[in-house]
Parts: sequence; structure tokens; C-alpha cells
Amino acid sequence: MKHLLKLLDLSTEEIIDILNLADQLKYELKHGIPHPHLKGKTLGMIFQKSSTRTRVSFETGMYQLGGYPLFLSSNDLQIGRGEPVQDTARVLSRYLDGIMIRTFEQAEVEALAEYGNIPIINGLTDFCHPCQVLADLMTIREFKGSFDGLKMCFIGDGNNMANSLIVGGLKVGMSVSIACPKDYRPPKEILDFAAKYDNFEITDSPAQAAKNADVLYTDVWASMGQEGEAEKRKKAFAGYQINDEIMSVANADAMVLHCLPAHREEEITAKVFEEHANEIFEEAENRLHAQKAVMVKLMA
Ligand code: CP
Ligand code: NVA
Repeated sequence: MKHLLKLLDLSTEEIIDILNLADQLKYELKHGIPHPHLKGKTLGMIFQKSSTRTRVSFETGMYQLGGYPLFLSSNDLQIGRGEPVQDTARVLSRYLDGIMIRTFEQAEVEALAEYGNIPIINGLTDFCHPCQVLADLMTIREFKGSFDGLKMCFIGDGNNMANSLIVGGLKVGMSVSIACPKDYRPPKEILDFAAKYDNFEITDSPAQAAKNADVLYTDVWASMGQEGEAEKRKKAFAGYQINDEIMSVANADAMVLHCLPAHREEEITAKVFEEHANEIFEEAENRLHAQKAVMVKLMA
């Protein structure tokens, strides 16, 4: 594994290896055991979109590993004034030991990897959010003990989160069901991947997708960059909500996850959110541990 560009590129074994190392690093952090695997290394973090979790967890994670993180806002980089990503990649490769990038186009992340010669980590694109789903898988295994026999259900937009959850969930052996409006299904590349699995289901009925689910997941109806479509999307996604009715068809001990930020009373009710806050915030914490594992695997 040279980069983390999308989960489609990773084998099941590579995913499980990252989760195991993440568990170990979490244990070490909680027990005050130092783990300076990246002493003297630097990570550049390019952000073309806002972030709370990704920025702070990568920055503190790099510090805990003994390395140095640089926050690079696209407003300040020449990339924001049109310098090609291909040139940015070749320059930054000479200063840094790794780059995390959050941007719009997946192609931009792939170009960084192609033109640079250091590990590239995708911190979210419109296409996928692999770091988030590694933390999600870590959280599911932590709460449920294993992935065996689990059904994960995603309700909402066929967006970056849905895409990575489908790929990650199926690769670790869970059943995956997706409920989204017909016009907001995941892209062909993801559906073609999922079609190879007989434990994948896509429907426009949230209740059908949630039936007997062990894990329920949702995300905002309008992602970063889609703010102008917010009103149209509110109409299209009405009913695609995790609420008491949906919880009643899932398994009694179903867990609820959300990548955050959450919009209460849109994709999830405040009641269900608060009832599952311990899972949701453990999930947010696990971003730190999972990404530290990714950085160690790629940069140590
Ligand atoms: N879930 C997530 O990626 O959060 P941020 O946008 O705050 O980084
Ligand atoms: N789908 C959301 C995820 C945020 C972590 C977005 O892209 O804005």
C-alpha cells in the first residue's frame, strides 16, 4: 500500500491490518505508552473544504506520532490561484514525507499521487471518504466484537460516505443495504463493484433497508459544495431519516453512526442522535486512531 486514495484500492487484509494497528495505537495512547513512529517526519495537510474532525485528528495524530503537521489552506497555497496540482505534487514531494488532501475532485487526489513521490492520503473528496470509513469500521468492530453476520444500512444520499461505506462494508464481510432516492444513487463504479456481492441491496425504501440492521448510518442531505441545492434536496430526501420508526425495524441492539456534522431533524432526529451519542462520538474519536494507523503504514 503506497497511498490511501480510495478503499477500492485496498485489499480486505490491508483494511484489517490498519484496524488492528489502530486498536493497538488507541490502547497505547490510553495507557500512556509513547509511539513515536514518525519522529522527524512532516505531513502537509491541504484543505480546499472546511473541516473540524479531519484537520484536528490528523494534526494531533501526527504530533502524537512524533512528527510535524503543516496545515495548508488552499486560500494560501498557489493551488488556490490556479497552480496545477501536478506541479504542486512535484514541489511538495521535495519538502514533505506525506500529504493529506481534502478537495472536490477525486482526479486531483489521484494526480497528486501520480506526479508526487510521497504517500497521499485522501481526507475526503466528492467521490469518497476512506479515512472516515476506516474509523467507522474500527468503531463497529469495537462495539460488536466482529463483522461476522452483521448488516449495515445507510440511509440518504448516494454520496462520498455511501460510496466508501459500501466498499469498506462489503470488503470486511458485512451485508450492506442502501436506501436512497432514485436520482441520488451512488455512481456506476460503486454499483458495479457492489454487484459482485450477493449481500448487497439498494432500494428507495428506508424501512426495507433498515430491516434487521445491526448498524444504521446516515449523512447530510447536502454535502460541502452542494449548498446551492439544499432546498431541492430537502424535498428529495424527505423521509430518508433515522428516527424511532426506522429504529423499530432494525435489530433491537442496533448501533447508529454518523460521520458528522449532523443536521438534527433532517437526516436524523435529535432523539435518536442523543440516544446513540456514545457510539457517534467514539466514532469521531476513532478518526484519530485510524488515521494514525494509516500514517504509520504509509510513512514509517
Ligand atoms: N466527518 C468529517 O470528516 O468531519 P470534518 O468535516 O469535520 O473533518
Ligand atoms: N458528505 C459530507 C461528509 C462530511 C464529512 C460532505 O461531503 O460534506
